[in-house]
Amino acid sequence: MMNKNLLRLPILAAALAIASIAVAGDSPQKERHELMEGVLKGAKVVGPMLKGEAEYDNAAAMKALKSWQSAAARFGDLFPEGSETGEDTEAAPAIWEDRAGFDAALVAWSDAVDAAIAANPATLDDAKPVIGPVFGKCKDCHDGYRIEDD
Ligand code: HEC
Repeated sequence: MMNKNLLRLPILAAALAIASIAVAGDSPQKERHELMEGVLKGAKVVGPMLKGEAEYDNAAAMKALKSWQSAAARFGDLFPEGSETGEDTEAAPAIWEDRAGFDAALVAWSDAVDAAIAANPATLDDAKPVIGPVFGKCKDCHDGYRIEDD
């Protein structure tokens, strides 16, 4: 009984591995596009608050920051060899030519996000100095690693 179940484990593990490869290989271009669209959603909530066009809301800001934290954790995996072009990607060739620079830009963004989350800014005055830099890092990365065609 016991042995039979144990024997199945490697088969299950192999099946899971194949399933996750299939998901990752699905279309990195599409996944990173969708991921950035999600990042934009948060930016549309937080941006107007920082500009004073919308009332500052700590819970909404923290929600956006946390969604960026998970986006940052996933984003770096979505640029495998072979996904340089296709599906109208806006990813610049610089990502593959200067992977270390791209990774550093991603870490800089992710560090800024983590710092803003740690600060848990209660007011707009608290938020500006910690969330402002997060937006700065979006721009830094886009300047070097994104070809904007819209
Ligand atoms: C580490 C680099 C990096 C950071 C940081 C970054 N982006 Fe991007 N962004 C990219 C790249 C690369 C693309 C193009 C992806 C593609 O098309 O394959 C992109 C695409 C986009 C797009 C277009 C969606 C698409 O793919 O068509 C939007 C909108 C966007 N980013 C918003 C943001 C915002 C807002 C932030 C910050 C809150 C941000 N990004 C932070 C690299 C970054």
